[in-house]
Amino acid sequence: MQIHRPQNEGILVLDFGSQYTLLIARRLRECGIYAEVIDGNRTTPPPDFRCRGIILSGGPDSVTEEGSRRLGNWVWDLKVPVLGICYGLQLLVEHFGGHVRSATKREYGKATLVLKTESGPAAKIFADLPPSQTVWMSHGDDTGTLPECLVALGHTAHDHVTAAIIHRQLPIAALQFHPEVQHSDHGAQILTQFARNLCGIEANWNSRRMVDLVTESIRDCVGNGRVLMAVSGGVDSTVAAALLGRALGPEKVTAVLIDHGLMRKGETTWVKNSLLKAGFKDLHVLHRPEQFLNALSGVSDPEAKRKIIGRCFIEEFEKFAPEHGPFTHLGQGTLYPDVIESAGHGSGAKVIKTHHNVGGLPAKLALQLVEPFRFLFKDEVRLIGRELGLPKELVDRHPFPGPGMAVRLLGDITGEKLALLREADAIFIEELRNAGLYDQVWQAFVVLLPVRSVGVMGDNRTYQWTIALRSVSSTDGMTADVSDLPLSFLKQVASRIVRQVPGINRVTYDITTKPPATIEWE
Ligand code: XMP
Repeated sequence: MQIHRPQNEGILVLDFGSQYTLLIARRLRECGIYAEVIDGNRTTPPPDFRCRGIILSGGPDSVTEEGSRRLGNWVWDLKVPVLGICYGLQLLVEHFGGHVRSATKREYGKATLVLKTESGPAAKIFADLPPSQTVWMSHGDDTGTLPECLVALGHTAHDHVTAAIIHRQLPIAALQFHPEVQHSDHGAQILTQFARNLCGIEANWNSRRMVDLVTESIRDCVGNGRVLMAVSGGVDSTVAAALLGRALGPEKVTAVLIDHGLMRKGETTWVKNSLLKAGFKDLHVLHRPEQFLNALSGVSDPEAKRKIIGRCFIEEFEKFAPEHGPFTHLGQGTLYPDVIESAGHGSGAKVIKTHHNVGGLPAKLALQLVEPFRFLFKDEVRLIGRELGLPKELVDRHPFPGPGMAVRLLGDITGEKLALLREADAIFIEELRNAGLYDQVWQAFVVLLPVRSVGVMGDNRTYQWTIALRSVSSTDGMTADVSDLPLSFLKQVASRIVRQVPGINRVTYDITTKPPATIEWE
């Protein structure tokens, strides 16, 4: 597939498998600098991209072990500034002839970074920083000895770990801590100063420019073709459909909403009405619960569920297309994190889950794909939605996964369990809205667990299902914190669910952050 990236110039982030790699790109873009993530194992630079600087991510490997990932020579051939983070620092230390010590103990959490003044071109990335600041550490190995060409410019106050290094002559710097993590007080400033002061990039990534650049990439990709756009009512596919219509002309885009029987209560009707109100003209709603639920019958494995749903979606589109076409492209609202998480970058980050719109595609798809947001993060898509003037009710909706309730009903899916889940979910969302909390949390939903336990209702023993409430704060779903919902509110939700949804006698609240958990349960 030909890749239509929105921008052909910026920073490349080489992924060596850290959970935080995407955040590096995310932070840079927040500061107006375009950055892309590529596999750290690549042996050549990506073609048609003007790389202005390279960041080496952290990762689980140890440079002291044989077979650990190493830098390709192309990184040096480009002669651009380089910043190593965590494992990236260790790669640089080793490359220049220093020594990295094997882990004796892991360091994880906040630490105080103490900076001193040193000269070298890369010192500019630490300009205007206080001499002491909080940073986020997550590493095993650390620096033993430095070669003559490198100089330590910062260490941690408590353990005296070498935490910031620069090259004496070249625009090369390295950090043992993670500037991309919000707990690093001046992390975003350090990353921006790398891009601006060292790589010489001016801020050039904002919502207006995103609309223009993505519009161009859509025209490039589709040409005179016609798009069959899969919409779910979620933010990504809705904004993608709107932008496709604007870029190509509304007559070139047909939106299709498939009710796979895994939607929330009343969702298909709500989505249909909202899309029509937002100006979508050529919208088709296909009711196909039986097809999907039959295919899912007896399946408990979450990855198998995702693949089946992906396959059913494609089958439906392949049936629809010849009757309403001809179409040249299938449009999807796939986001950058979906692509990176599904790719797993070879031996890089582990594949966490297959996003249905990425992993379920059959090799021989009769339509080509157009995924305008393949390089964008969710909050960038929301910015585009606002820039296009789409209504708040669509742009600010909580994210809803393409496989719908299938990933929120653990174990095998039955109509009866789906009904329980739908009712409980509707109550939770309604209570959040009534309490004015819906817009304060990033995403909230209910999960049905495959667990039954004993309860007592009136004078009777019950033996019924358990649900978990999940509510998180996040900016893009890559990391998430538990919403601080008042206990009195949670108790009210629990009491209403148990009273009004026969079949559920126990409600729990998930208090796990991402990482180590994910947002959805599956
Ligand atoms: P996890 O569970 O991976 O979820 O922490 C991160 C965010 O992604 C959403 N999600 C999906 N969205 N298709 C989507 O469109 C999918 O297959 C999918 N899986 C997870 C999830 O709801 C959360 O917002």
